[in-house]
Amino acid sequence: MSHATGRGTQSKEETQPATTAALANVGSSDLQMVYAPIRKELDAVEVILRTELSNETPFVDQLLHHSWLLGGKRIRPALLLLSAASCGNLNPAHLQMAAALEMIHTATLVHDDILDEARTRRHRETANAIWGNKISLLLGDYLFTHAFHVASLANSAEGLRMLARASNRVCEGEMRQNAWQGDFDLSEANYLRMITEKTAELCGVGCRLGAFLSDADHDHSLGFQTYGRSLGVAFQIIDDVLDLVGRPEEVGKTLGTDLINQKPTLPVIHCLEQSDRRERAQLKKILVDQDSTTEDVLPFLSRTDSLQYARRVAQKHARWATNFAQSLASNDCSIALHDLAEFVLQRTH
Ligand code: IPE
Ligand code: IPE
Ligand code: MG
Ligand code: MG
Repeated sequence: MSHATGRGTQSKEETQPATTAALANVGSSDLQMVYAPIRKELDAVEVILRTELSNETPFVDQLLHHSWLLGGKRIRPALLLLSAASCGNLNPAHLQMAAALEMIHTATLVHDDILDEARTRRHRETANAIWGNKISLLLGDYLFTHAFHVASLANSAEGLRMLARASNRVCEGEMRQNAWQGDFDLSEANYLRMITEKTAELCGVGCRLGAFLSDADHDHSLGFQTYGRSLGVAFQIIDDVLDLVGRPEEVGKTLGTDLINQKPTLPVIHCLEQSDRRERAQLKKILVDQDSTTEDVLPFLSRTDSLQYARRVAQKHARWATNFAQSLASNDCSIALHDLAEFVLQRTH
């Protein structure tokens, strides 16, 4: 699969109305509305990030400034803060943990962009595009390690342990994904396991930490973690759909990298499972061919309705999340947790 992909094209699947559109009116521009109940705290997290991502050495400062400037949707800190607030107690420890969580997320992106050879992230040039892989590797390391320093300021050994374990699992997931590169016989179950580790784990631990640091009891905290994990699984499936048919100017990052790097994602896994022997052999040949493009793969996915299938699986996981949110006492924060899971399904960036 080459870099000349179908980036920016709108497939048949994308021109159809999203199946979930009727469920809630949460478009991408409404993300800020979802964040309204925790706006003040999110702003405080930004201040921590800006302060922590600076350094007296100008070159280091420039690198850290770039990673702060990168911005992003800030979904993980929002999950932590909304979970905390819906348990009725938001304190400074939450702000530290939320900043640390976003820093870990950013570190994984800096490293991921090296692995994926991505040039654009959050509408800007990636660190690897500007400074090369070696410096980006070190920047990612700095962000990872500094995140634990920031998290330690929350003064919760147990919270720190949760965060460390989750970060560890993210790395396991990324390793697993790289080990499975080019393995187009990967099962859906193994794909789900891998994305649970690499993506859902951080969302889950954010929600759990929010509840835990609000003194929620153990079972309730685990309920929040399951909510976050379900949302995270849905989030990654949609990300994998967007990698195939998203609009680069909207998504703001290099797309088509999953096929270029021969990463089996749900639409492709489903398509291969649903194809007959001849078609499967044809598709596999395309998938490993350096000269083929996303356009070569899309007709296969369309024949088996695999993009819609992936969206349905994402919907199922998001539905578990919204059900949990609806089981909470109804207030601004539980409604926001519900709407965030809807946003994940409908997002175009
Ligand atoms: C990107 O995450 C990486 C994935 C887990 C798919 P986000 O889409 O949350 O990235 P930002 O933080 O908004 O850039
Ligand atoms: C998520 O996978 C990356 C991490 C969890 C670090 P992707 O490779 O799909 O993320 P994007 O698409 O580059 O943001
Ligand atoms: Mg990537
Ligand atoms: Mg992706």
